[in-house]
Amino acid sequence: MSAETSTSSHEATAAHEDSDLLLEVTEVKKHFPVKQGIVFQRTVGQVQAVDGVSLKLRRGETLGVVGESGCGKSTLGRLLMGLERPTSGSIKLKGREVSTLKGRELRAMRRNIQIVLQDPYSSLDPRMTVGDIVGEPYDVHPDALGNRDRRRTIQELLDVVGLDPSHANRYPHQFSGGQRQRIGIARALALKPEIIVCDEPVSALDVSVQAQVINLFEQLQNEFGLAYVFIAHDLSVVRHISDRVLVMYLGKGVEYGTEDEIYEHPTHPYTQALLSAVSVPDPRLRGHRDHIVLEGDVPSPVDPPSGCRFRTRCWKAEDVCATEVPLLVARDGSAHPSACHFAVERDVIHASGDDDRRDEGANVAEHGEETSTP
Ligand SMILES: Nc1ncnc2c1ncn2[C@@H]1O[C@H](COP(=O)(O)OP(=O)(O)OP(=O)(O)O)[C@@H](O)[C@H]1O
Ligand code: SF4
Ligand SMILES: [Mg+2]
Repeated sequence: MSAETSTSSHEATAAHEDSDLLLEVTEVKKHFPVKQGIVFQRTVGQVQAVDGVSLKLRRGETLGVVGESGCGKSTLGRLLMGLERPTSGSIKLKGREVSTLKGRELRAMRRNIQIVLQDPYSSLDPRMTVGDIVGEPYDVHPDALGNRDRRRTIQELLDVVGLDPSHANRYPHQFSGGQRQRIGIARALALKPEIIVCDEPVSALDVSVQAQVINLFEQLQNEFGLAYVFIAHDLSVVRHISDRVLVMYLGKGVEYGTEDEIYEHPTHPYTQALLSAVSVPDPRLRGHRDHIVLEGDVPSPVDPPSGCRFRTRCWKAEDVCATEVPLLVARDGSAHPSACHFAVERDVIHASGDDDRRDEGANVAEHGEETSTP
């Protein structure tokens, strides 16, 4: 193949990929002011809820976003939906900057990005019928209904998410937790969005129901080509559904890769620690699992540690970690980005039980015993 042919085929592939690109987020930050004073309120600091996150989302794919409580997942989701304005950085929807949109343009953009929230008990108004809840988006965007009959459209939406269409007149309390989450999903689908931000949509559900709801998300994705930003605090929840995963810590992305890169070849100590806490479904592997115990709480996002934000809990921290911020880039020996000066792959699960492959100095407990961070 000539160089020219090879270049044009490369360009063709790139163009094809770009046509599928829905969201492109570059170095986005959201800082909330911390105010003090009763009469005269002064800004005394900033909550660095999201601090320089970049990501891409393509048509029909799922990006998992994972991290401990308070690391900025929901704030990121709200930024993507235009519910928060970024402090800095860029959010492009199909190539168009959306972070500065206002009024009608902002409303039109929001139509294309919908949200499903964690708590099906509090996210549905108990005084409204299910039909009114699912049809509520048509009150804000009447043109989305067009000439279609409202009642029949709502019944169809209920049917699509596996609910009985004849139950449109019932109230949320007459449904189980999983069914209520299906109502939330039907409402999110009403405006035929291309992207749904799923903010911990199964965290409040029983494990068996979680699987059913995740299956529904997958089925809808296959049927309608939806793209998801799927937020969770547990890596095991997003594994099944994610094409790529962004691991967040204290407002920053610390590792970003395909499902295989994150789960089979993690290089950031934080990801490795999160994975070590994930339950091992294969009974042959149980008891042979390294368990990294992360000590201490996540530091305050108002005054995060200098250099690497994870250094106060990291067993591999060295002097440089306090002075130099590790960039989220691919490093030697690994194809995917990791924000660690010493990013290296280590085995999270030891099927053989020997510890030859253990990192030196890792704070590891085997066979279920726990040790503390030095
Ligand atoms: N409107 C706000 N004003 C001030 N601080 C905020 C605001 N919204 C969020 N924060 C702070 O920003 C940080 C990130 O919050 P966020 O809700 O995005 O985290 P999260 O990862 O979704 O947590 P969780 O897993 O508990 O839902 C937290 O410290 C939170 O207290
Ligand atoms: S940069 Fe240093 S402190 Fe941060 S994760 Fe890597 S080794 Fe740990
Ligand atoms: Mg949240």
